[in-house]
Amino acid sequence: MKKKFLASLMAMVMVFGLAACGGSDDAATDGDSGEATGGKIGVSMPTQSLQRWNQDGTNMKAELEAAGYEVDLQYAGDNDIPTQVSQIENMIAGGCEVLVVAAIDGSSLTEALKGAAEQGIPVIAYDRLIMNSEAVSYYATFDNYKVGQMQGEYIRDALDLDNAEGPFNIELVTGAPDDNNVNFFFGGAMDVLTPYIESGKLVVPSGQTEKAQCATANWSTEEAQKRFENIISSVGYAPDGVKLDAVLCSNDSTSYGVQNALLAAGYTADNMPIITGQDCDKPNVKNLVAGYQSMSIFKDTRTLAEKVVGMVDAIMKGSEPEINDTETYDNGVGVVPSYLCDPVIVTVDNYKEMLIDSGYYTEADIA
Ligand code: BGC
Repeated sequence: MKKKFLASLMAMVMVFGLAACGGSDDAATDGDSGEATGGKIGVSMPTQSLQRWNQDGTNMKAELEAAGYEVDLQYAGDNDIPTQVSQIENMIAGGCEVLVVAAIDGSSLTEALKGAAEQGIPVIAYDRLIMNSEAVSYYATFDNYKVGQMQGEYIRDALDLDNAEGPFNIELVTGAPDDNNVNFFFGGAMDVLTPYIESGKLVVPSGQTEKAQCATANWSTEEAQKRFENIISSVGYAPDGVKLDAVLCSNDSTSYGVQNALLAAGYTADNMPIITGQDCDKPNVKNLVAGYQSMSIFKDTRTLAEKVVGMVDAIMKGSEPEINDTETYDNGVGVVPSYLCDPVIVTVDNYKEMLIDSGYYTEADIA
């Protein structure tokens, strides 16, 4: 009797257990095949040649899959605009229900995204705003103006511009002219630095102060290096020549090119100017520790991915995504509701806490 009861109890436990497993499986996956059933999401990234976009893509894919979605992740070669356009067209034709797009050229996707609008597919602009398109529903990024402002303030404070006599020599380097973020990075920094340039406390000996003159196509390290080599030789900058006090660089890939040019011209950690950056790319963090770069801006791509996955999930479930800015980002046809994440300054003093203790990098990554 007792044996029979135990046997049927065991059977019940097993059936129950299986049912419970099956239940939770069914919610996220398609039974036997193990495929996600939450819907298909297209993720379009600009390039694999820069560390950050690889991280962005990997994080987005992992987090979307963990939330139960199928992911079509595409990188557009090395910043190849026609490739990005056709990848997006394929995502639309291939049944993606939401598109997440980090545009190469903010203005080149208008036609491709008309198809998304026609089919009611919401588009989230990722990190970079997509211009001149009504199809863009939301924008998620870091506070780009604040990034530039922090870089400008770092230079202001490091040179003690409010108290020191000066004048100080500075040169300016920014990014791709077709990336809308450049307006905010360069604009934010120049809002801090321009009054000092106007008062003569800061001097730009190359005379190159306009955004177009300071731009770097595709944010290329080689292009930034070439331009800076020309500046070094035309102005006569050298450790024992004309003194260079600071270089504003909008991001790490351009900053790296500037540092290469200065190192080749004989500069060392002892006489490097103040140099800014953004992204905390591994080679730049190494240079930060070596004393070649003064600061970088940390934009934790895990945070951005998490926010965007939250947006996708809200859209797919018919609720309102979380936004915290409805004023700043006008893409030419209207203001795009945005979520702005907070950037953080990283220097040699806090890189361990910000980058290693937070699990973003291992010691070995930047050894
Ligand atoms: C991003 C930066 C990045 C740059 C080059 C910008 O749009 O916001 O983080 O360094 O593109 O890829």
